[in-house]
Amino acid sequence: MKDQINVGLVGIGFMGKAHSNAYMNLNHFFDLPFKVEMTAACDSNTERLDKFCNKFDWKSKETDFHDLIERNDIDIIDICTPNAMHYPIAISAIKNKKHIICEKPIALNADEARKMWETAEENKIKHMVGFNYRRVPALQLAKQFIDEGKFGKIRHFNAVYYQDWLLNPDFPIVWRHSIKESGSGTHGDQNAHIVDLARFFVGEIEAVCGAKEIFIKERPIEGSEEKGVVTADDAAQFMAKFRNGALGSFIASRFATGKKNFLRLEVFGSKGAFSFNLERMNELNIFSVDDDLAEQGFKTILVTESVHPYINAWWPPGHIIGWEHTFIHEIKDFVEAIAENKTASPNFYDGYKCQEVLDAAYKSFDTQKWEEIKQD
Ligand SMILES: NC(=O)c1ccc[n+]([C@@H]2O[C@H](COP(=O)([O-])OP(=O)(O)OC[C@H]3O[C@@H](n4cnc5c(N)ncnc54)[C@H](O)[C@@H]3O)[C@@H](O)[C@H]2O)c1
Repeated sequence: MKDQINVGLVGIGFMGKAHSNAYMNLNHFFDLPFKVEMTAACDSNTERLDKFCNKFDWKSKETDFHDLIERNDIDIIDICTPNAMHYPIAISAIKNKKHIICEKPIALNADEARKMWETAEENKIKHMVGFNYRRVPALQLAKQFIDEGKFGKIRHFNAVYYQDWLLNPDFPIVWRHSIKESGSGTHGDQNAHIVDLARFFVGEIEAVCGAKEIFIKERPIEGSEEKGVVTADDAAQFMAKFRNGALGSFIASRFATGKKNFLRLEVFGSKGAFSFNLERMNELNIFSVDDDLAEQGFKTILVTESVHPYINAWWPPGHIIGWEHTFIHEIKDFVEAIAENKTASPNFYDGYKCQEVLDAAYKSFDTQKWEEIKQD
């Protein structure tokens, strides 16, 4: 086995920074099968690239993703660009036999996502989608409890993902406001995360029905007197029926006044329940009908014990971890999947199945009817 694996990052914005932080810390906290090397970072914004590479200690740089992908010294391509670029970069990287970790949503639509998954499988590369909230230790613990049957048969999965960064009508147009560049707005951004968690905890979704809104239809174009038309949703919410009979509800908004990055889950089963709030991400609230009646009630587990998922690599009990750790955990699991020749999870199939749900919900926003998700 090689003693090092070389990464090429595409996109040095918000996620480029979060992933760079993960690569910088990965080797120091986890005993990995090989050293993960920050070989090259790539961005079309050449002005910011030099400073970024110096700051995060990327060894070299490229300004065209094709050049990065063609390099023989790169093993993993990490895609942190706007959504419209995920498909072309991934397809090109797969054909060059690179392993890929791609930010969410995987693509602009399910057709693209399916092609990415099929091409990756045909070419036998390892692939992962950046649904980092699966890597919150409290949510991994909830998943263990579900798999052990602690909560019984799950009947409700209710999730909200609120932000409020678009409240100000003077906030300028960015790629996230354009359907062409993003596929959808808050729907593919925030709902993608909670749909992935729904699949993780409950299973496949059968049908969806919902509504979306663009509250502010035009926004200033930076550096111009003109305004641009907003085509991507500001808020999107829908109901869901799961194949196993559970019911779900999903709300995503960038206009949830006062809520900055508020992701809350409430999951109810026949024998128990759990809830989770990202603002208190080290805590898991659980309820069990098996507890003595006199003592029944939701209790809060502080998920910082060495027996809890991922925690052994970090600090003593009670010394909490943060949002950035989810990316470190995600990339650690990805490089281990490569080393052990295992299927990474969540992978492009999960990205595709999530995208099918998002597409069906998007269709229902127009038809105002329940839309079914086809069965594989
Ligand atoms: N997992 C999460 O929690 C999370 C959070 C935020 C964003 N995201 C996802 O990450 C991706 C990137 O989002 P972001 O917030 O980092 O965006 P961003 O706008 O901050 O950064 C995108 C970067 O990509 C670069 N870029 C654009 N086109 C390029 C090209 N053709 N070649 C090379 N570089 C190019 C831009 O110059 C920019 O530096 C999106 O898919 C988004 O949905 C995930």
